[in-house]
Amino acid sequence: MTVSGNEPYLVCSGLFKIYKVADLEVVALRGLELSVQRGEVIAVVGASGSGKSTMLNILAGYDTPSAGTVHVGRFDLLQMTNKEVVEYRRQEVGFVWQETSRNLFPYLTAYENVELPMLLTGVPAKVRKQRSNELLDLVGLGHRHAHRPAQLSGGEQQRVAIAVALANRPPLLLADEPTGELDDETAADVLALLNNVNTELGTTIVIVTHDPAISSSVGRAIAIRDGKTSTETTRSVSFERKIGGEAGEVEEYLLVDSSGSIQIPREILDELSIRRRVRVGISDGKVTLESGE
Ligand SMILES: Nc1ncnc2c1ncn2[C@@H]1O[C@H](COP(=O)(O)OP(=O)(O)O)[C@@H](O)[C@H]1O
Ligand SMILES: [Mg+2]
Repeated sequence: MTVSGNEPYLVCSGLFKIYKVADLEVVALRGLELSVQRGEVIAVVGASGSGKSTMLNILAGYDTPSAGTVHVGRFDLLQMTNKEVVEYRRQEVGFVWQETSRNLFPYLTAYENVELPMLLTGVPAKVRKQRSNELLDLVGLGHRHAHRPAQLSGGEQQRVAIAVALANRPPLLLADEPTGELDDETAADVLALLNNVNTELGTTIVIVTHDPAISSSVGRAIAIRDGKTSTETTRSVSFERKIGGEAGEVEEYLLVDSSGSIQIPREILDELSIRRRVRVGISDGKVTLESGE
């Protein structure tokens, strides 16, 4: 999938989320910035507790930030009416949870699980049938359509969950640790499937994960630390070509937030003995930093 246009499809800016638990305040997001182009597959990678699920729940329209702005397509997520929230969740975004059991109704077959979101949005029966079958084929489970979740493996359940999330053809797919409960090989299959969905349907995909290995399966990986996006890694070679053996060139960047701040890695600060302040200059078109004391 080629990425087109300059206007990002998804933008989070200066995002804060503060949870109040009794007298304690937990700052889950502190000025998070994220910008995604239409048709991209990105991973947001961070340790447990770094704010990944909080960010994804806000993007899914399940939660609102304490401060900041979020735009997805034509939606301003902080200015939506209740009706628009429902429309956003049904039409714009599909969601895959880490817990395989949370994604599917246990008493419905794979086919019925995929059909359900279309029943809720009033898609005509003929279209529902065709699209459910197409989606099950896309995720490689056409032959298992009559099976219930308990009759499918964890990886197969996640495949069905992806088909369910795509039922109403959302332009955005959000996946919270979609491979967290899977073994390495099955996880690689699910990631390959997500890349295939992106290529076939043009869906923009945001995966959050604690597993740094996933960075190598996506075009761009963004590190999240303490509720803030800090660095990003881009790869010049797509996942499909990488499977073919090409390593691709990896580049790492620091992210500049909306107030112009960057977080300089501790190793660099130590090497230059930078502590409280720095002298900033420009030399040959490059910014230079030297210790201010
Ligand atoms: N509902 C909540 N109430 C209070 N604190 C929460 C809640 N949800 C998350 N947190 C806290 O916010 C921080 C980020 O959590 P989360 O977004 O779940 O991180 P991750 O998904 O990266 O593991 C953690 O410190 C967590 O304990
Ligand atoms: Mg989480």
